[in-house]
Amino acid sequence: MEPILELAGLSKVYPGGLKALDDVDLTIRKGEIFALLGPNGAGKTTLIGAVCGLVRPSAGTITAFGYDMARDWRRARSRIGLVPQELSTDMFEPVERAVSYSRGLFGLAPDKARIEEILRSLSLWEKRDERIMSLSGGMKRRVLIAKALAHEPDLLFLDEPTAGVDVELRKGMWAVIDSMRERGVTIILTTHYLEEAEMMADRVGIINRGKLLMVDEKDAMMARLGRTEAHITLAQPLDTLPPAIARFPVELEADGASLCYRGGDGTGKGKAEVAELTKALIGSGIDFTGIETRESSLEDIFVSLLGKEGGVA
Ligand SMILES: Nc1ncnc2c1ncn2[C@@H]1O[C@H](COP(=O)(O)OP(=O)(O)O)[C@@H](O)[C@H]1O
Ligand SMILES: [Mg+2]
Repeated sequence: MEPILELAGLSKVYPGGLKALDDVDLTIRKGEIFALLGPNGAGKTTLIGAVCGLVRPSAGTITAFGYDMARDWRRARSRIGLVPQELSTDMFEPVERAVSYSRGLFGLAPDKARIEEILRSLSLWEKRDERIMSLSGGMKRRVLIAKALAHEPDLLFLDEPTAGVDVELRKGMWAVIDSMRERGVTIILTTHYLEEAEMMADRVGIINRGKLLMVDEKDAMMARLGRTEAHITLAQPLDTLPPAIARFPVELEADGASLCYRGGDGTGKGKAEVAELTKALIGSGIDFTGIETRESSLEDIFVSLLGKEGGVA
């Protein structure tokens, strides 16, 4: 797959000595949705800022569309759109004019039809003559997306596009992002909503304290790191684990009142094994009154990774 963006050895030390990016290597493929996950302060906005020319890297190289950003910044930047994390925009401007202006900033000729198409796709067309300040939070965020799309970028950064947005609007935003992908735009989004990465991303990168800890296909990551957890409530408490179930990854909990299974690999193996376990229980005459099974989410994976690495900063 053709790389659209390559970071090599990218580091950023802010004045004062804080290392916000620590030797990051990352290749983004054309057409993918890449979710960069990390807690607050992990370095996500710094990474985006470095690619968009807002943050000067301390070391490393950034190659976008084959251009070295240090030398050919303008050429590459004109093909990149940025939806910033902060809602800071020209609040007094009417929607349509603000979006047209963004297009002009990159030297593109005015194109009313194109702007109309963008505004319609974001359900902003009816609001085109309203001042941005009069819009709701979710609408303001869409204006930021419209502005970022106005110069028809091939690579779009969305920095926490749904932070502070309610569930309904978040889903609307996902639909918008999906339609951009369908148009062939490569998308890098940052989020700390794991559900968002789970729903949207083809690949996921996990960043903490400036270090990219892991990058993988979302499904592969979940299969590799996912787990099944089952709690089986026993009809009669047990003192010890019966030999018949010793081969399963189980332990007694709640003073022997229930059994806890933790195993599998996120591919359904766990569920099958829990079914085997219940058969073994029945086979050895151990009665149970309930089973609760849960597949671990990206969130569990995330939390356990950050835990191993020394906790959330
Ligand atoms: N302009 C700056 N000067 C000094 N430190 C900064 C600056 N911007 C961000 N930082 C620090 O760099 C770290 C990474 O910040 P940031 O990239 O905004 O993280 P994220 O977007 O993942 O929340 C944080 O510790 C933050 O306080
Ligand atoms: Mg940020």
